[in-house]
Amino acid sequence: MNFQNIVSLLVGASFVTSCQDAEKKVETGSTEAFTEGERQQFSGKGKEAVGDLAGTLGSQLKAAMASGGPVAAVKVCKEVAQPLTNSTGAKRDGVTIGRTALKVRNPQNAPDDIDREVLEAWEALKGKGDALPGHELVRLDDDTVRFYKPIILQEVCLNCHGSDEQLLPELKKTLDELYPGDQARGFQVGDLRGVFRVEMEVSSAE
Ligand code: HEC
Repeated sequence: MNFQNIVSLLVGASFVTSCQDAEKKVETGSTEAFTEGERQQFSGKGKEAVGDLAGTLGSQLKAAMASGGPVAAVKVCKEVAQPLTNSTGAKRDGVTIGRTALKVRNPQNAPDDIDREVLEAWEALKGKGDALPGHELVRLDDDTVRFYKPIILQEVCLNCHGSDEQLLPELKKTLDELYPGDQARGFQVGDLRGVFRVEMEVSSAE
């Protein structure tokens, strides 16, 4: 066997192992893989629900920032984020949607074990300098599937999720009052801020 063949074997082997590891990690609880048809169905449904929630939350945030600045916008967020999130799921049969993260501002958004596993796998990918997948599907059991999509921190988010030096003193005070256990500060542009999670009953996807 010549040198070239050995190199390609080695490269091939490590590629296969890392793919399998990533898949196993993220697809916790999965008993069977997805068929191509299922992938399309669940991904389409997940993307559509996330697009809806991201759109409504984003436009509320933009309007609130424009009319009253970040301090007023935090109060608006506190009022509307949860009801908007819940109603986005409730509009769809057999679907719930949410946002979660390893570091949360609102404890109602705290991750469960599966969320945590996805978030940690994605943090590990970022740590290695690898690109994140656009989304990921996880089968919880025969009847339930989850769709996850990464949320990457952008410049505008630093107003409320940046370092202590980046937060206006009045904003910090408001956050401390509204969210006493706030962990969602100190992020930088490009960080994995969290994920959108769409949980779907399998029967709802037909
Ligand atoms: C005006 C301040 C403000 C800005 C700007 C802002 N956020 Fe937030 N963010 C909040 C508040 C307040 C919450 C808690 C909402 C709640 O009570 O559910 C929150 C919650 C979140 C959550 C849910 C998880 C958690 O920590 O509870 C994510 C994810 C998130 N923000 C991402 C972003 C991203 C990405 C951006 C930029 C595109 C952004 N935020 C910009 C104030 C802000």
